[in-house]
Amino acid sequence: MASEIPLNPEPQIDNDLKRALGPLHLIALGIGAIIGAGIFVLTGQAAATYAGPGVVYSFAIAGTGCLFAGLCYAEYAAMIPIAGSAYTYTYATLGRMMAWIIGWNLVLEYLAAGSTVAVGWSGYFTDFMANQMHMPIAWQFANAPFCVAGDPLPCPAVAATGAVHSILSTGAFFNLPAVAIVLLVTAVLIVGVNMSANFNNLMVAIKLCIVLLVIFVCFSQVVPANHVPFVPENTGTFGQFGWTGVFRATGVIFFAYIGFDAVSVAAQEARNPQRDVPLGILGSLAICTVLYMLMCWVLTGIAPYQSLNVAHPVSKAVEALASTQWLAPYVNVGAIVGLASVVLVLLLGQSRIFYAMSKDGMIPPLFGAIHPRFKTPWLGTLVTGLFCAFLAGVLPLHILGELVSIGTLAAFVIVCVGIMILRRRRPNVARPFRTPFVWIVAPLGIFMCLFMMVFLPLDTWIRLAVWTVIGLVIYGVYSRNHAKPPRFVLHDKPQAAE
Ligand code: ALA
Repeated sequence: MASEIPLNPEPQIDNDLKRALGPLHLIALGIGAIIGAGIFVLTGQAAATYAGPGVVYSFAIAGTGCLFAGLCYAEYAAMIPIAGSAYTYTYATLGRMMAWIIGWNLVLEYLAAGSTVAVGWSGYFTDFMANQMHMPIAWQFANAPFCVAGDPLPCPAVAATGAVHSILSTGAFFNLPAVAIVLLVTAVLIVGVNMSANFNNLMVAIKLCIVLLVIFVCFSQVVPANHVPFVPENTGTFGQFGWTGVFRATGVIFFAYIGFDAVSVAAQEARNPQRDVPLGILGSLAICTVLYMLMCWVLTGIAPYQSLNVAHPVSKAVEALASTQWLAPYVNVGAIVGLASVVLVLLLGQSRIFYAMSKDGMIPPLFGAIHPRFKTPWLGTLVTGLFCAFLAGVLPLHILGELVSIGTLAAFVIVCVGIMILRRRRPNVARPFRTPFVWIVAPLGIFMCLFMMVFLPLDTWIRLAVWTVIGLVIYGVYSRNHAKPPRFVLHDKPQAAE
């Protein structure tokens, strides 16, 4: 792994980076970026509201979809090794409008994901303060003022309001710990304190140890009755339990896999990209899929799935049995450390996407302004941080997580389509990594991502539509008139077409 995670925004236009990463480094990088609020929070809520213990199947399906999309992602990343992720790839290959759409969706992915993980962090921090430090935070300052009917307390019960999937008031003011962690991370990113790889590795190790500890200790404590029925009967409403519930939960917990693209982005630093990048993607996804499935199996096994609709489901689950209660403080500390590192990685990614878009003239230059002393894109980072903190303060995890999933899935569909178009249009471009069996893998990636999107609730689609319309208005009013040609041009190399 590189010795530092650079906060310097300058894209690496040349492809002469040190090729230092082997398959194990890439797998570790992937696992570090993947494990976060998805497993620590959304799993419990998805089990309680959509799938019951059947959420185990949801993880298997989502992991398979990510695998196909990830292999397409890797081909792009190795071909276009500069900052900006899928946005930059698309601008270099499919033109301005598609680039804008994907960039706008990536904003949804990274920015709202940062808020989601911050809300997850707040749940564990609040529990830690109340139960381990005996200094409870007033609930009005540890929850969002809005919720969706069916969310955990303090959301009014559905029975009390008769409303399903409508936005309700909780009576809380705002989620103070979530806002605080986002602002703290923003400050770190602006000042540009480079995080050493060792520090990052330590945080990854802590997350991983906690997940392994919970699985190991709880495995033998599973109460078989909690797993019967494994897929609870559908309530009569589409997406609430039964197989439609399992599929809906797939779209929701897809969030837990976001971050594996970190492996593709490191493709240009891999020693042997053609072999190691797929190993890194396959390896980290396979390991996370197995860990996630085991974790869901034990969580829904030691506690009734109905009890997991809380902000800190893992510590809540281990508290259900006297024999596993001792794990709760470790889970809280592990989640607090691990989730903070995910917020940092996500906000870093977002500020770099804004940076790339502003360099291309897609958004105003202020997003690319570099601080004279800190050498970081401070204004873009500040705007990102403030907006992210606002979302984290007022919206519940449920809404944020589903929004992130649908935006990311849409971006993945475009990546899979783009990779096939490019194989046809530019067969001779040098591809350090070629997606294996691309004509099977890319269509399967598209199918799986669309499948997961289809099962997400209608309100999430409506929010995506509103987001897209806002994006298109900005594109029409500003970006179309200010955009510059792509900074990266693909060059053909003499090589046999596929
Ligand atoms: N996959 C990351 C998480 O679950 C984003 O927090």
